[in-house]
Amino acid sequence: MRLRILAVAWLGLLGTAFAQENDAPAPQVQVSQEIVHFWNNECATCHGQTGEGIEEAKAPAIAGLPDYYLLDQIAKFRQGLRKGEDDTGSGFVAEMHREAVELEDALFQQLAIHIASLPVKRPKRTVAGDPEAGSQPYQELCASCHGAEAQGDPVKRTPPLHAFQDWYLVEQIRRFRVGLRKPDAGHGESLQMHAMALRFPSLDEAREIALYINSYLPGEPDAEP
Ligand code: HEC
Ligand code: HEC
Repeated sequence: MRLRILAVAWLGLLGTAFAQENDAPAPQVQVSQEIVHFWNNECATCHGQTGEGIEEAKAPAIAGLPDYYLLDQIAKFRQGLRKGEDDTGSGFVAEMHREAVELEDALFQQLAIHIASLPVKRPKRTVAGDPEAGSQPYQELCASCHGAEAQGDPVKRTPPLHAFQDWYLVEQIRRFRVGLRKPDAGHGESLQMHAMALRFPSLDEAREIALYINSYLPGEPDAEP
């Protein structure tokens, strides 16, 4: 129930046209067939048809991400703050950068409505570690910006974290740490996120936090891989 309310709250940000009562059925957001086709042809190859993300393409689950965050991140890919420099040699991040540069604003705004309307799913567990051990560090270090249940905060422009795959959460912390993902100098919280990643004692702790974050989504956790 709580998740439904959150989903409705995020979608509410898309505009009054979609405003719903908390108990109303999930909103049906309409975008044109062209947009759905575009998504299927240009984005789903890496992000999956339902936006669940594909590990082989290093692509995050983006289903249900709120529009403020989608628009911010596409702008960052364009501005070169997420340039696609990649020390893993995969080439997918660079490809994402090119996709963003080529996208027209109006088209991306429609795509963002489509992406935000895709249902959030609990990702498959892929990393080892103790989820409970991540609870205290998450609440102490992350909750003030990302929310007590990792639901994100539109005022601070932070993303909900609970639906990202565990490996993606760990990889993004690593990328902030080594400077492959740069903060936006005009956005105080994003600078602080960068500083936070630098202070991380080890990626083991990042794994525990990632597992804890995923536990906010309903569904049985997978066994430790
Ligand atoms: C070649 C594979 C590929 C294609 C095609 C692709 N993406 Fe991505 N996308 C990625 C990868 C990889 C990342 C993560 C980049 C990173 O690690 O910094 C990403 C990240 C994103 C993010 C940021 C998510 C976040 O949480 O920060 C958004 C938004 C996004 N993609 C939207 C799109 C849209 C919309 C399309 C279609 C127009 C698209 N992508 C096509 C691979 C792809
Ligand atoms: C001071 C506020 C703040 C704190 C504290 C903070 N973050 Fe963030 N975080 C942000 C902001 C802002 C962004 C978006 C950065 C951007 O726009 O590139 C972000 C982005 C992220 C991302 C990238 C998600 C994506 O879309 O790719 C991850 C992962 C993340 N944070 C994890 C954490 C974890 C784990 C902690 C605690 C250890 C934490 N953050 C603490 C503000 C914060």
